[in-house]
Order: sequence, then C-alpha cells, then structure tokens
Amino acid sequence: MAEQTKELKLPNHIAIILDGNGRWAKAKGMPRSYGHIVGCDNLEKMCDIMADMGIRYLTVYAFSTENWKRSADEIKVLMDLFRKYLKRCERKAERNHMRVKIIGDTSALEPDIQESIRELEGMSAGYDRMFFQIALNYGGRDEIERAVTRLADDVRAGKIPEGRIRGDVFEQYLDTAGIPDPDLLIRTSGEMRLSNFLLWQLAYTEFYFTDTAWPDFHKPDLMKAIEKYNSRDRRYGNAK
Ligand code: IPE
Ligand code: IPE
Ligand code: MG
Repeated sequence: MAEQTKELKLPNHIAIILDGNGRWAKAKGMPRSYGHIVGCDNLEKMCDIMADMGIRYLTVYAFSTENWKRSADEIKVLMDLFRKYLKRCERKAERNHMRVKIIGDTSALEPDIQESIRELEGMSAGYDRMFFQIALNYGGRDEIERAVTRLADDVRAGKIPEGRIRGDVFEQYLDTAGIPDPDLLIRTSGEMRLSNFLLWQLAYTEFYFTDTAWPDFHKPDLMKAIEKYNSRDRRYGNAK
C-alpha cells in the first residue's frame, strides 16, 4: 500500500468548492461567521500543503454571483474576511512562489478590496512555481456572458474574423485564459452540484464529493481524493 501511495499521480490542477462552513459552525452551536473564519484559516493551511506537495494549479470558489442573496450581515462578514485574507495572501505568495489571480467580476466589489486584489496580483505576477486562482463574485454563466460580450466587441472591431468561433479562441476571453482545465474537482459538505462554478472548464474534470465540511477538510482528506482520482480511467481532458 505504501508503495502505491508513492506512485500517486498528482492532478496538475485541483479546483475546490469550499462548502459547508455555515453548517459546520451550526453543528457546534456557533454562528455561521465562525465557520467562515475557520474555513478561511483552513484554506491558508491547505494551500501551503498543496504547494509543498507540488500541486501546480489550485482554484477555489470563495464567493459566487448568487451569494449576494445571503443576509447583509453574512455578506459583511465574508467581505471583511476577504479584506484580511487578501493581505495575508501576499505572504503566502512569497512563501510558495505562487502567482495569485482573482477570477470573477471584481468590479462589483468594494474599491478597497479591488485595490488589494491589484496589489496581490501585481506583487505575485513574477512567481511561477504555483498558480492560485480565487473565485470571488464568480459565476460560470456570468463569466461566459462577459467573455461573449468582449468577443463580440472584438469581432465588430475586426480583431477576430467573422464566422465560426472556435473553442480555443473563446477560451482566451474567459477569466481563466492561459490556465489549464482542472483535472480534479472537489466539493466538500455533501452537495453534489456545481453551483455555477467553471461551467466551461469542468467539461472533462473528475468530480470528487465528500460529506466532510470544508473546515474539517485536511491533508488526509485531500489524499483520499487524490487516491480516488488515481483509480479513475481518464480518457479525455488533460489525461495522458
Ligand atoms: C461555503 O460555506 C462558503 C461560502 C459559500 C462563502 P457555506 O456558507 O455555503 O456553508 P453552508 O453550505 O451553508 O453550510
Ligand atoms: C457554492 O456554495 C459557492 C461557494 C462555495 C463560494 P453555496 O453554498 O453558495 O452553493 P449552494 O447555494 O449550496 O448551491
Ligand atoms: Mg453552502
């Protein structure tokens, strides 16, 4: 068994829907905000663990375009957490030689958060050991709408020839342009849906669902997901 573990093939790109913070806190008799705080700490730890393992690409779903429907109080807690997290992430970028990119429609975020994003993306732009994408105000349909809008502008401006638009051209307009598609998608906390995450990019990704809530998802849980991924017979996507 130990031999087998040594031979585990690491997914090049792992995407994670960080779910279950609220239910995890509730089960402990705590407010949802506590779940978000612990979930955020766990993201920092897991990001270091994946960097140390040699995972090249990590993309996490932190706030969806639908999450604005939550209570004003919860949205405030989350935005304040992002504020702090984006600052702390600069140290992580240095530690892990990690380029950080925010995907999603950041124009709807508070100006100071947008400024922190510019700073973080700017200071980490030269790193290339790991690539870390954080989906903030992200929705797969919204991303496609924004991409198609810009693509149509470029067709009108004569920058792209009219006629059939191929996938490889379209992809360059997505927020994930230049980033390979995920090999493994993990969703924690029992739900088995995409909730509008990376609709185009997940076409051939392996899915792994676990009942474990995000704040409880640690290295052994990740290893289980990677073992499961290794047992699958991949024919398309990045399989080679
Ligand atoms: C995931 O946890 C974090 C965000 C969506 C921001 P949830 O807040 O969705 O927690 P549950 O799913 O309600 O337990
Ligand atoms: C998906 O989780 C979005 C994030 C993890 C940021 P949700 O908890 O918001 O999704 P639904 O509402 O269960 O579909
Ligand atoms: Mg949820």
